[in-house]
Amino acid sequence: MDIALSRECNRLNLLQVARYLDREPELLLGYYHQLLDDSAFVAQLNRQMARARQQLHFTKGIFGKPDVDSVDWFAFQRILLYILVRTLRPARILETGVYYGGNTVFLLKGLHDNGEGTLVSIDLPGSKAASTTRHPGVGDTELYAAHVRAGFLIPEELEGPWQFIEGSSLDVVPTLEGQFDFYIHDSEHSFQFLQRELALASRKLTTDATLLVDDIDWSNAFYAFCAGERYVPLLLTDNGKDGLRVRSGLVRRNHPANYDPAFVGQASSPSASTTLSNKCSYRTTSPNSSTTKSASNPLDSPRSMYRNSSGPTRS
Ligand SMILES: C[S@@+](CC[C@H](N)C(=O)[O-])C[C@H]1O[C@@H](n2cnc3c(N)ncnc32)[C@H](O)[C@@H]1O
Repeated sequence: MDIALSRECNRLNLLQVARYLDREPELLLGYYHQLLDDSAFVAQLNRQMARARQQLHFTKGIFGKPDVDSVDWFAFQRILLYILVRTLRPARILETGVYYGGNTVFLLKGLHDNGEGTLVSIDLPGSKAASTTRHPGVGDTELYAAHVRAGFLIPEELEGPWQFIEGSSLDVVPTLEGQFDFYIHDSEHSFQFLQRELALASRKLTTDATLLVDDIDWSNAFYAFCAGERYVPLLLTDNGKDGLRVRSGLVRRNHPANYDPAFVGQASSPSASTTLSNKCSYRTTSPNSSTTKSASNPLDSPRSMYRNSSGPTRS
C-alpha cells in the first residue's frame, strides 16, 4: 500500500462524506489531522499489536507489521469511523462483528475524544467463532483460536464506555433496550444474514441515526435495503492490500433526498418493486406510508466468486 496515495484517497472520500452529512469539509479534515497527529494513540495500538503477536501468535494483516508509524496504515473505514463519531457525536453506538477490534478501537477512540457516548458491540463467543464458519454464505476469512476473546486490539484505557455482548447479533439485537443513533454492521455478510440484521437493527435506531455497513461488495443486501427503504446511500472506497474497492455503505436516515422520487424513484410502483427485491420481504417506507411487500430481485446475487473462496483481504 502506498501511504501517500492512501492519504489522498482518504481525503477525497472525506470531502464526499462532508457533503453527504452537510458539514464543512474542514471539520472532518480537522478530525483526520487530529488523529494523524495523535502519536500516543498509535503507540497504544502498537503495544496492543505487539501483545497479540507475543501472547496470541496473531500476525494477520496489520499485526504482521512490527511498527506502525501512522493510522493511515489502517483501512480508511477505521479512520472514517473515528471522524464520524467526532462529527456526529452519537450518544449510543451499536456494533456487530468485533473480531480483533479494528473498527471498535476507532469508535472507542472517537467516544474517548468526545468525552461522552457509549458503545454496545456483539460478536459470537470465541469458541463458537472458531468452530463455525463465520461467513457461511460467502466464504470464511476470519478465524482465531477458541480461547481468544474478540477485541484484542483495544487498549484498556479506551474500554470505559464499551459493553461487549457475546452471542449472535440476530438473537441479541432484539433484546437490546433503548435506541441507538449510530450502527455499524461488520458481522456475517451473506445476503440473507445482512438483510435480517439490517431489519432488526433498524427497529432499534433513532429516526436521525447513521448506519455504516462494511464489505457491501460481498452481496447486494445493502443496496436492496437502501432501495427498499428508499434511502440515498453514500458508497465509499477503501484502499486495502489488493487495491481500491467499494467497501463501506453509509446511510443518514434523515438525509433530505431520502424518499425523494428524483433520487430514489417512485414508491410502491409494482414494476419498481419487482425489480428491486427477490426472495426478500422488505418494507417500503415514506414519511406518509409504510407497507410490507414480497417481490423478486435481480440484485439478490451474492458475488459467487466469494462463495467458495476466502473473500477479499482487508486490514
Ligand atoms: C469481518 S469480522 C469483523 C472484523 C472487525 N469488525 C474488525 O474491525 O476487526 C466478522 C466478525 O463477525 C462475527 N460474526 C459472524 N457471525 C456473527 C453473528 N451471527 N453474530 C455476531 N457476530 C458474528 C465473527 O465472529 C467475526 O468476528
